[in-house]
This record gives sequence, C-alpha cells and structure tokens, in this order.
Amino acid sequence: MEYNDRILSGYAENDEAVLEATIRPQSLDEYVGQNTLKDNLRIYIQAALQRNEPLDHVLLYGPPGLGKTTLAFILANEMHSKVRVASGPSISKAGDLAAILSVLEPGDVLFIDEIHRLPKVVEEVLYPAMEDFELDIMVGSDNGAGGRSVRLDLPPFTLVGATTRAGDLSAPLRDRFGIISKLDYYDHDQLSAIIRRTSRVLDVAIDEDAVIEIARRSRGTPRIANRLLRRIRDFAQVLNDGFISKQIADESLNRLHVDSLGLDEVDLRYLRGIIERFHGGPVGLEALANSISEETTTLEDVYEPYLIQIGFINRTSRGRVATEKAYEHLKIAHTASLF
Ligand SMILES: Nc1ncnc2c1ncn2[C@@H]1O[C@H](COP(=O)(O)OP(=O)(O)OP(=O)(O)O)[C@@H](O)[C@H]1O
Ligand SMILES: [Mg+2]
Repeated sequence: MEYNDRILSGYAENDEAVLEATIRPQSLDEYVGQNTLKDNLRIYIQAALQRNEPLDHVLLYGPPGLGKTTLAFILANEMHSKVRVASGPSISKAGDLAAILSVLEPGDVLFIDEIHRLPKVVEEVLYPAMEDFELDIMVGSDNGAGGRSVRLDLPPFTLVGATTRAGDLSAPLRDRFGIISKLDYYDHDQLSAIIRRTSRVLDVAIDEDAVIEIARRSRGTPRIANRLLRRIRDFAQVLNDGFISKQIADESLNRLHVDSLGLDEVDLRYLRGIIERFHGGPVGLEALANSISEETTTLEDVYEPYLIQIGFINRTSRGRVATEKAYEHLKIAHTASLF
C-alpha cells in the first residue's frame, strides 16, 4: 500500500484537493488554532495595509495537513490580494520562475508549495526578486555566452513559501523571509472545533461525544480529522440514517484500523521495529526504515514528528529510542538491558 492511500497519512490523497477546497476556512477568524501565529499575522497584516505595502515574505513549515496551504490563501484574502500558485518541483528552470514573476501584479501573493525542492539556479533568480523586487534575465542567447543580462523591476509582492522540511531550505533563501513560522499539531479542543465546523459545512448531524472521539484519533492533524469525518459519514449514512453517534464513530474508526491514539499500522510497525528488532534503540533511521520496508523521508516527515510529539520516541545523536510510554501503549514489558 502506498503511504498516500493510508487513511492516517497527513498527505493529501489524489481527489482530496477538490474536497478540501470546499471545506477550507477563508479568513483568519475561521482558521482554528495556531493562535500565537494568527495574532502576530493579524498585526503584520494590519500594519502592511495601513502602510499600503505588501506583507513581508512568509515561510510556513510543519508536517503535512496542518494548514499551510489554507493559511497562504487566507493571507492573500486578508490582504485583499490575488494569489498565484506554484510548486517547487514544477519550477525546474530559471526561465520558469521568470515567467511567473514577470506577470505578477502589485500586491499579489505568490504561493510556492514545497519550496525546499526549488533547484539552486531557480533560487538564485528568487533572491533579488525577494529582496529588491528585481528580476535579472539573460537575453540574446540560450546559454549565456554572448547574451547580456537585463534587469527588470517587479511590482512589490509577497512570497509565501510552504515546506514540510525547513531543514532542507538553503540558508540564503531562508534568510530572505521576514516571517518564518512553524505550524504546530492541534490539540483535541481545536480538532473538535474543526470537526464541528466541517460537519456544518457538509451538513451532517454528529453527536458531541463522536466529535471528541474523532478528534482524539486524528493525530493532531486537521486533514486527518476531516478525512476520518468523511469516511465515518459513509458508515453513518448506510448504517444509522446519517447520524454520527459515538457508537458509529467508534465502530467506523475500529474498522478503519485507527487505534485509540490515532496510530495506524505503520506507526505500530515502526514502534515494534524499534522495540522488537533493535531492543528499544538507539537505532539509525536507515536501518529501521529498511527493517520495516518504509521510505526514510516518509518516516521522517510524517510518522516521527507525531510520535515525538506524543512522547513515544526520542531522536538522539545515536539514533531513535522508544520510550516507556511506547512500551505501555503496545503492552510490551520493558526489561531494561543489562549491557
Ligand atoms: N486551522 C485550520 N482550521 C480549520 N481547518 C483547517 C485548518 N488547517 C487545516 N484545515 C483543513 O485541513 C485541510 C488540509 O490543510 P492544508 O491543505 O492547508 O494543509 P497543508 O499544511 O498545506 O498540507 P501539505 O503539507 O500536504 O500541503 C484543509 O482542507 C483544511 O480544510
Ligand atoms: Mg499544502
């Protein structure tokens, strides 16, 4: 099974983007949680509007499904700006970026998703654009030889970059963002608020205890909360006249193999891998990933951040270590090694 077919993957599924667009909050007031970030952004936005300037460039980072794309669109809305969307892997040549930048209008928001995947040559075009709103382009030749560089003025714009791997961003690129923010996992109350909101948008009746149960099993991630809600709605429609009761929620979540903490079979294989094959660690990521046939990047970006968040593993300089809490959850006795 591909990781993006998994019910608990934070990554968006293929047809999910369309569904997500319909349930995406449109304003900072509708955007649940991330309160410190939201409060700061409100100030920056108000100040920029008062000065009649675009917002400073914003970098949003954090695990998939926490609301980076949603927030980028909200920033544009709140600035009364248009948003243009691009993604790191789709901008492969300097010319691709030049084409995008040269059609920007004053105050536009340019959203670049997966910005850590921009090639170096493209990044270099971005630096003067971000810093001085200038674009250097080569004219008169394809390879630079015999050509000359022409400098164009760009209108003031805001770059919003999103990434799941801030560590992969080059320092010069990171330094050119005025606002750098990490999105945090959501707590159960915040996830409950998101589930109630989505239920209203989808027009499904749901019991408050069911809301809380889904929130508890959503791994702190709005995308997962919304996805579980949609799946449970199907069970409710067929089995319970459309009403999501606590019992229907429980039954559906169990059928979907989402455990009481929202862990799926990959999390469990990961934890069992450390505990049973490597005596609880420390074990290097590479060795662990091999032993459970998973990609290191998937483990690093999607699975480990949540397991660290809930205190099930520690990342040490010698490798990953399972904690007492992980042993308890898996009901495996922890016999401390003598060596
Ligand atoms: N703070 C929030 N309040 C309400 N809904 C949210 C919030 N954050 C995210 N969502 C919901 O979760 C879904 C996923 O969010 P989004 O696409 O913005 O995540 P992302 O961080 O961009 O993920 P990726 O890294 O995969 O691009 C959205 O459809 C949105 O409805
Ligand atoms: Mg996104």
